[in-house]
Amino acid sequence: MARGALPVLGHLGRILRDPMEFFTVARELGPVVGIRLGPRTAYLVTAPDLVREMLVGGYREFDKGGSYFDAVRSLAGNGLATCSAQDHMRQRPLMQPAFHSSVLPSYTEVMGACVEEVTGEWRPGGTLELDEEMRRLTSLVATRTLMTSEEGAQAAADVARALPLLLPALHRRVLIPVNWVHRLPTPGNRRFERTQAGLRASVDQVIAQYRRSGVDQGDLLSLIMAARSEGDGTGLSDAEIHDQIMSVLLAGIETTASLLSWTFHLLSRHPDVRKKLVAEVGEVLDGGRTATYRDLTQLRYCKRVLTESMRLYPPGALLSRVTTKDVELAGTPIPAGSDVLFCTYSLHRDPQVFAESEVFDPDRWLPERVTPAQRKGFFPLGAGRRKCIGDSFGLIEAAIALATITARWHFRPVDTRPVRPVLRTTLMPSSLRMTVERREVGGRG
Ligand code: HEM
Repeated sequence: MARGALPVLGHLGRILRDPMEFFTVARELGPVVGIRLGPRTAYLVTAPDLVREMLVGGYREFDKGGSYFDAVRSLAGNGLATCSAQDHMRQRPLMQPAFHSSVLPSYTEVMGACVEEVTGEWRPGGTLELDEEMRRLTSLVATRTLMTSEEGAQAAADVARALPLLLPALHRRVLIPVNWVHRLPTPGNRRFERTQAGLRASVDQVIAQYRRSGVDQGDLLSLIMAARSEGDGTGLSDAEIHDQIMSVLLAGIETTASLLSWTFHLLSRHPDVRKKLVAEVGEVLDGGRTATYRDLTQLRYCKRVLTESMRLYPPGALLSRVTTKDVELAGTPIPAGSDVLFCTYSLHRDPQVFAESEVFDPDRWLPERVTPAQRKGFFPLGAGRRKCIGDSFGLIEAAIALATITARWHFRPVDTRPVRPVLRTTLMPSSLRMTVERREVGGRG
């Protein structure tokens, strides 16, 4: 058991104060560490091989569920990201076609157009909250790829707009898993319920409209609606489709915005890395055109920068499972129904796995330098059968945005205070105020 538990709150106070620090310190206490979350004991798995064993081999024993998922399900329902293994076996094959490699090039065009639209409003010398801008970008991409009918785009935009309000509330529900607290008629709880009900209604209307028209809109939703199971030929019901839409929006917008925000933060503090990236994108994008699907194979350094950024600041920094039966991990008995947590932020900074683990070094991912331990200890997109279904989508989106923006714009941090990682449902920088300057074609650094 980790030390410093208070009689009622357990470790909750320390976790709320600085979660990443708490989980990093707890890493030193052993491969499986008991922590007290209010009245309950949860188990933190700190050894990368055990995390992999749990994610790859323990699909059913370490299922999605427990207090975290109860809270997220209140918003995302029983979609792919939150459902149990039992439902996942049916849902995942039905969702896969919407993320197949054959449809990615068409999404990539949309991504490039969204980068143009968002950055088109930037003015040289102006100041931006860059994390907000990245959220605006990834929301726009989700809106333009998921539901492209007029009503659909409107509904997706409503969801995207509501996320900054809903996610902190969701995070509080995760950390304070006491249902009655969240049912109290406080202004905050009422706003949460009202916003959620409004979104639910508008997404349902869009599904009904797609069903009525029967037109293939060439978007993610049309692919999800058309998918049929190989076994009995059935597709997803309207209620299931609703939950998939919420799942995809919840899982796809903040994560990619987090990745881009942290990457720009790191680049602003590492001129040597920035210089190399500017040189690569200048060459590949002929000085500054919008990146396309065909450019991706040449953007090798850009890819390493993103990989290294996800190592130091994994958007899904704290993940969890619930045990569906009594299990044992590294000799620690864990009863059925326990929350099992793993913190990718601290796993990715383990000095036993990553040499000079606190250093931002994209070239540690060069094929000749990457070690098997490094690969095995790296979980930015999860692992096993629940691995991120939008991995290629998200990484392509991030690469198109990073390359196009870096070729044209230069950022300078306004704030001299240190940027802290803040855990909401994803890991976000505490503040990312930057002034923007247009980069001269052929300019350096
Ligand atoms: C680069 C940005 C992204 C990161 C870092 C990321 C990270 C993750 C992680 C860590 C998981 C596994 C969670 C767990 O095991 O508990 C996951 C699952 C998932 N992600 Fe992503 N994600 C990203 C982008 C996206 C995008 C763009 C979409 C959709 C358009 C998406 C949709 C999903 C879904 C639906 C799941 C659940 C998969 C399943 O359980 O079968 N993600 N993501």
